[in-house]
Amino acid sequence: MALLLVTGGCGFIGSHLTAALLARGDRVRVLDDLSTGSRANLAPGATLVVGKVEDPETVRAAMEGVDGCFHLAAIASVARCTEAWLETHRVNLSATIAVLDAARAAFGRAAIPVAYASSAAIYGMPEFCPLDEDAPARPLSAYGADKLGCELHARVAGQVHGVPTIGLRFFNVYGPRQDPRSPYSGVISIFCERLNRGLPLAIHGDGRQTRDFVFVADVVAALLAALPMAETGAPVFNVCTGQPSSLLDLSAAIGRACGQEPRLEHQPARLGDIRHSVGSVLRARQALGLKPPVPLEEGLAAVIGWL
Ligand code: NAD
Ligand code: UD1
Repeated sequence: MALLLVTGGCGFIGSHLTAALLARGDRVRVLDDLSTGSRANLAPGATLVVGKVEDPETVRAAMEGVDGCFHLAAIASVARCTEAWLETHRVNLSATIAVLDAARAAFGRAAIPVAYASSAAIYGMPEFCPLDEDAPARPLSAYGADKLGCELHARVAGQVHGVPTIGLRFFNVYGPRQDPRSPYSGVISIFCERLNRGLPLAIHGDGRQTRDFVFVADVVAALLAALPMAETGAPVFNVCTGQPSSLLDLSAAIGRACGQEPRLEHQPARLGDIRHSVGSVLRARQALGLKPPVPLEEGLAAVIGWL
């Protein structure tokens, strides 16, 4: 039975991952500052350390005795990173360095493998889609730049310090427990909740921007498959479906799932918002042995059932 550290384990993706690890018989320690996550999300059976992941002492203590680490704690909102550039940089990049540093071999123990969350935001405004992992990384947001920084420091961790890592470039993840009330949350949880309450949906820009929406269970499956493949070459993989949805298509699909016609309110496009983001699933499917992704309609029904 392994002991695994999950940073951000009280958040949306981290809480699903923690539950899956416990279900397969592992022990889990969670490090979380409860800023966007909550105790209510913590899977029963996990141990919680409340603290900041950018604090090296806290991370070192949390890493004590673990067999592996999933590093998910971050400020996940691109819009919030645009507003609070330096503050979010400390959490999204410096904290990753703190995790990789604490994972180095020390006091006779081997280096600890780390699987960490990168993002489709590292690609910036792509010239063509679907994006495979060799597409140029040209982030347009502070958030994307910091996630690319995580990948670069993971290479350093492997090449210089012998720390095995694997990075997963999640596309737009959705599912139950994604906070529906925060304006910084993912668009699907915001839209489902607003439609449920009979409120209009805010479309930033013309609504023709596209995203690749991937259900949280598929992301958890990718994380579980990834950790044993962590290595010093610091590989990175997309986690996506390969299927584009425009915001207008998405609002119509949510309307059908809720049995209501959505009212749309157009607002100015967000600064640094990416126009099209669709990933290629091929490399991850082959290397991580992933099953076909959950279809959008099925995933939306799970979100609406949870609300
Ligand atoms: P979330 O906000 O639900 O979870 C993040 C968790 O980290 C929360 O529990 C929060 O309390 C914790 N946290 C934040 N700052 C912290 C700090 N300084 N110290 C300790 N804990 C802290 O977000 P999520 O959607 O579950 O995202 C998880 C990871 O996946 C993040 O790294 C995010 O950037 C990445 N990601 C998410 C998506 C998505 O669509 N949700 C897509 C790509 C990448
Ligand atoms: C999301 C993730 C980010 C991840 C990235 C990978 C969240 C909060 N953000 O960013 O962590 O790295 O995917 O691709 O999960 N929109 C509206 N109305 C709204 C809310 C959003 O029109 O009320 C639009 C946005 O302008 C954007 C799209 O919906 O065009 C998606 O926005 P959002 O869910 O915030 O995700 P990303 O910015 O793509």
